[in-house]
Amino acid sequence: MTTPVLSRHWSEDRSWTLENYRRHDGYQALAAALKLSPGEVIDLVKASGLRGRGGAGFPVGTKWSFIPKDGTATPHYLVVNADESEPGTCKDIPLMLATPHTLIEGIAIAAYAIGAQHAFIYVRGEVASVIRRLRTAVAEAYDAGVLGPGALGRGRRLDLVVHAGAGAYICGEETALLESLEGKRGQPRLRPPFPAVAGLYACPTVINNVESIASVPAIVLGGVDWFRSMGTERSPGFTLYSLSGHVTRPGQYEAPLGITLRELLELAGGIRAGHTLKFWTPGGSSTPIFTAEHLDIPLDYEGVAEAGSMLGTKALQIFDETVCVVRAVARWTDFYAHESCGKCTPCREGTYWLKQLMARLESGDADASDLDTLTEITDSVVGKSFCALGDAAGSPIYSSLKYFRDEYLAHFARDGHPGGCPLDPAKATAFADRAESKS
Ligand SMILES: Cc1cc2nc3c(=O)[nH]c(=O)nc-3n(C[C@H](O)[C@H](O)[C@H](O)COP(=O)(O)O)c2cc1C
Ligand code: SF4
Repeated sequence: MTTPVLSRHWSEDRSWTLENYRRHDGYQALAAALKLSPGEVIDLVKASGLRGRGGAGFPVGTKWSFIPKDGTATPHYLVVNADESEPGTCKDIPLMLATPHTLIEGIAIAAYAIGAQHAFIYVRGEVASVIRRLRTAVAEAYDAGVLGPGALGRGRRLDLVVHAGAGAYICGEETALLESLEGKRGQPRLRPPFPAVAGLYACPTVINNVESIASVPAIVLGGVDWFRSMGTERSPGFTLYSLSGHVTRPGQYEAPLGITLRELLELAGGIRAGHTLKFWTPGGSSTPIFTAEHLDIPLDYEGVAEAGSMLGTKALQIFDETVCVVRAVARWTDFYAHESCGKCTPCREGTYWLKQLMARLESGDADASDLDTLTEITDSVVGKSFCALGDAAGSPIYSSLKYFRDEYLAHFARDGHPGGCPLDPAKATAFADRAESKS
């Protein structure tokens, strides 16, 4: 049921070295790609149906094809989005730690296809060990001639810079990332113009997620039919599903798109012993939550959308019956209020008020009118903010109200009982601090 491709060599001794990578056909895909024309490489990636793994699932080859083909007047840039800051999302960091050369080979192929001679990896600033690992791998690649002069064929060099961000979630939004890379405050840009027309330093730029780019060498070597033999018609291939929370064996599970949570839980040893599934996110905290009703929906872009959520980054955060959904949503709402960049009023002000309301609802100091206010404010943020962070802030709230409205109501004070979480604090092992504060 699993299809380890990206993660195939992760557990090997010193898996991150160039020597180890070369032992497993490393840089053979680049050699094969350089025998094709750049247009042929783009056509191959298009035909594979590879979709971006950063959240939206936009087809990778199509994005590359938007870069002007004739222009030599302005440089073209490739930027890899390695900001990975969404709660629950944890696939790019292990990939870069375990096999950084997979990413570097993908970068070289993508740069060749779009005519870029400069590429950047924008890494989340807090992950110092990943930054060190990447920089060591980049140095190895320069020494081996995979980067630098002649890397992309005679007379065509490729330079790769590993850039450490300063640890802001919004810098994962592609246009805020470009602002940050240019040394400015990381806030989203108005589109159009889209990055393919005017991106980094106002030049044509492709921005792709780490996993998207790292998937390219395997597609070049394995071929379109092989890649399409996995997954579904519209969401082909393999991908990394990250299981976290109340599962017996959390971690990365590489499987064909379209696998279900029920199947993934079988691989992961199920929900932790003695407990039952209560709710889960299909793709990080920005994607509307699901419940045990959704165990059998196919985890591909279409299947998850039809069921009312988004595949996002495939970060499956699993919560069992000991978790108070109001508390979990309050924590996510704190996160969005903290990470709002402040550029637009609906998100800056709205997330501030949502945070206050969720705190009241969690503590039991709220009443039914606060639930109406919660919905009203969420309505004024979602679809009315400048970038998708505003929509993301509303996802946990709307979806928890849809499936767990009764749990919100159960927090209200009534009949002489003080308000607050109705769950037995002694059993709420996930939140020991709450159990301690009540004892
Ligand atoms: C608030 C916010 C944070 C984001 N963070 C990331 C991130 O950390 N990594 C990422 O690849 N995409 C992130 N995205 C999506 C990017 O804007 C962009 O769509 C993605 O990098 C494109 O890559 P792909 O086409 O390969 O998926 C974020 C979007 C938003 C709105
Ligand atoms: S939606 Fe939020 S994060 Fe996005 S621009 Fe507006 S304030 Fe900034």
